[in-house]
Amino acid sequence: MGKKLLLANDHVPGIKGFEVYRANGGYKSVEKAVKTMSPDAVVEEVKKSGLRGRGGAGFPTGMKWSFLAKPEGVARYLVCNADESEPGTFKDRYLMSRIPHILVEGMITSGFALGATAGYIYIRGEYFYIVSILEKAIEEAYANGFLGKNILGSGFNYDLYVHVGAGAYICGEETALLESLEGKRGNPRIKPPFPAIAGLYGCPTVVNNVETIAAVVPIINDGGEAYAAVGIGKSAGTKLISASGHINKPGVYEIEMGITVEDFIYSDEYCGGIKNGKKLKAVVAGGSSVPILPADKILTTPSGEKRLMSYESLADGGFASGTMLGSGGFIVMDETASVVENLHTFARFYHHESCGQCSPCREGTGWMEKILHKILDGHGTVEDIELLWEIQSKIEGNTICPLGDAAAWPVASAIRHFRSEFEEYVKNPNNLKKVRHYDSVNQLVSA
Ligand SMILES: Cc1cc2nc3c(=O)[nH]c(=O)nc-3n(C[C@H](O)[C@H](O)[C@H](O)COP(=O)(O)O)c2cc1C
Repeated sequence: MGKKLLLANDHVPGIKGFEVYRANGGYKSVEKAVKTMSPDAVVEEVKKSGLRGRGGAGFPTGMKWSFLAKPEGVARYLVCNADESEPGTFKDRYLMSRIPHILVEGMITSGFALGATAGYIYIRGEYFYIVSILEKAIEEAYANGFLGKNILGSGFNYDLYVHVGAGAYICGEETALLESLEGKRGNPRIKPPFPAIAGLYGCPTVVNNVETIAAVVPIINDGGEAYAAVGIGKSAGTKLISASGHINKPGVYEIEMGITVEDFIYSDEYCGGIKNGKKLKAVVAGGSSVPILPADKILTTPSGEKRLMSYESLADGGFASGTMLGSGGFIVMDETASVVENLHTFARFYHHESCGQCSPCREGTGWMEKILHKILDGHGTVEDIELLWEIQSKIEGNTICPLGDAAAWPVASAIRHFRSEFEEYVKNPNNLKKVRHYDSVNQLVSA
């Protein structure tokens, strides 16, 4: 069994409540930090741990924290990104709904490290059922002296709030999130300035993912070096993976970074193999934004070694033959899946979720969806495949935020690795599945 750092107590009855969480070692990191450590020492441990942001980009957390500006007399904020809208990713909701106190604890210990006066958990609108779970956990933390004024007699004052979004993928982009938190339309900001300099209400702010903040708890409890000893190389620690698709055991798994992709898919400890004994066709390893890879490329690196579940190994080969760990949304497709149909679903999503601020994304996402619709509907041409390629290449890198890249990469990788499937749709449209039709509110109306 792999080591569990976040979900170690997932099986404990009543772990959602303060008493049981505390009895199982909960809130020790807060005690240790506020009573025995300086804020800088906490930042130092996080640096030593090698923790990288779990929201998708994998930026080193300790380094991000050390960029936080600290002008005299200016408030600082910690914001938790609980927007989790990336298709294929559902690990944050799992953690928050089952062990809410690990996030509350992480927000307090991290807030102390950053000298923050307040923390905000910005949660996706559709996760309304988790809001009351988090609010109850926060209430319990206040009642037990872990939040509010003079926490545990240390002189540290810190408040924690939950803010519910309205259900927009773009509000997961950290600067759009800050706009939304300020009560405005969630349009990404032009950077610089970065949030570390001018974030929430113009004040220095750190934005971190739910899982990143939760990981601070074991890091402070056991020390940064102990955390860095788990995992492999620059992919330290454990990672929550949301596994879905044609597998026997879909769900959320905490893995030690560095296990092989093959083990993750086929071993009984994790996905338990492909459903109904079918063959593996393709995997989207890190949420809908990352390049899709065919079976041979996801299982082996370009040099013929077994591919590992780590930032580096999944990216080995660049975009020509590699992908990204992203947010760990691991979508498995068997031999019966249609890559083109799946891509159309993703394209619809990105078109719907583009905020419309940048022309390449606003126009390009809709154009790509239309072409894919045309191909699936049996009216595509070979030129349409070229056009799709051309459009995605014009979006990538030409937008304020990476939603444009996120919309372009699945298209580019699907054409790169599954071109013959697109050609088959164009040549023999009647042999293949047709496009699914949706009405204006995105309800499936016919198949
Ligand atoms: C369109 C878009 C959506 C995003 N959605 C999320 C999200 O739901 N959750 C998240 O943690 N990060 C999301 N991100 C990444 C954030 O901008 C940011 O990098 C992250 O919250 C930083 O936290 P980390 O350093 O702990 O990973 C998104 C980025 C983009 C461009």
